[in-house]
Amino acid sequence: MKIVVTGANRGIGLELTRQYLARGDSVVAGVRDPTLATRLTALGQAAGGRLRVAACDVTLDASVRAFAAGLRDPVDLLINNAGIKTERDELADLDLGNAARTFQVNVLGVLRVTLALLPLLRRAPAAKIASISSGLGSIERNLTGGIYGYRISKAALNMASRSLAQDLRKDRIVAVALTPGWVKTDMGGSGAQTEVSDSAAGLIKVIDGLKLEDSGKCISFLGESVPW
Ligand SMILES: NC(=O)c1ccc[n+]([C@@H]2O[C@H](COP(=O)([O-])OP(=O)(O)OC[C@H]3O[C@@H](n4cnc5c(N)ncnc54)[C@H](OP(=O)(O)O)[C@@H]3O)[C@@H](O)[C@H]2O)c1
Repeated sequence: MKIVVTGANRGIGLELTRQYLARGDSVVAGVRDPTLATRLTALGQAAGGRLRVAACDVTLDASVRAFAAGLRDPVDLLINNAGIKTERDELADLDLGNAARTFQVNVLGVLRVTLALLPLLRRAPAAKIASISSGLGSIERNLTGGIYGYRISKAALNMASRSLAQDLRKDRIVAVALTPGWVKTDMGGSGAQTEVSDSAAGLIKVIDGLKLEDSGKCISFLGESVPW
């Protein structure tokens, strides 16, 4: 399988890349700066040419265009994983500039990469687009408030994923939003509940099992349906 993972330099993206390579898939890992991607480079050395690391800043048209232009084979799976969660995201100290940046990465970045890769996804027999959302994007589950920019971005991402599902059904492309749990990464922090290896393994299992009728859903790494 030919897989593209964005934001693969660390955290969940790096672990997804590691696990896909370990089972024999080919991965193109999009990172902001390949010269800093030392952990990916180490993974690549053991992967026998199945890993390519390429620059892909999801907020920059030119970067995403060049990234897509560097891909030739059909893409079976796009994982829109790159994401940010910023400081000053609470009502008392809300920084709207940060919220706008979060929207740029978490929402428009996903659409930018997806649009650029659509021709290659359409050439695969049964392509999938998995966008990494968050339980914090669930409107129904928001009983505590706060975390404005991040919550808004993931709720918007869910809507974008749902629209992609409807628009791409005729191409037999599955589009889903997936929640990874609260994961021990730089973003999730050391107090998080879920090991990054368990989150990635769960996400991979869910992605493997996706059928066309799942398109448009939001699903957790445990395979449970997540309410909007
Ligand atoms: N950790 C959690 O508990 C949790 C929970 C729910 C959802 N998520 C979601 O899961 C995804 C991965 O999160 P994580 O925990 O692995 O976060 P992380 O450890 O902070 O890693 C985020 C990755 O995204 C990349 N990135 C940020 N801005 C980018 C841009 N403009 N272009 C390309 N890549 C960019 C970063 O690149 P650099 O390394 O270059 O900075 C980094 O590799 C995110 O979408 C996040 O919202 C995480």
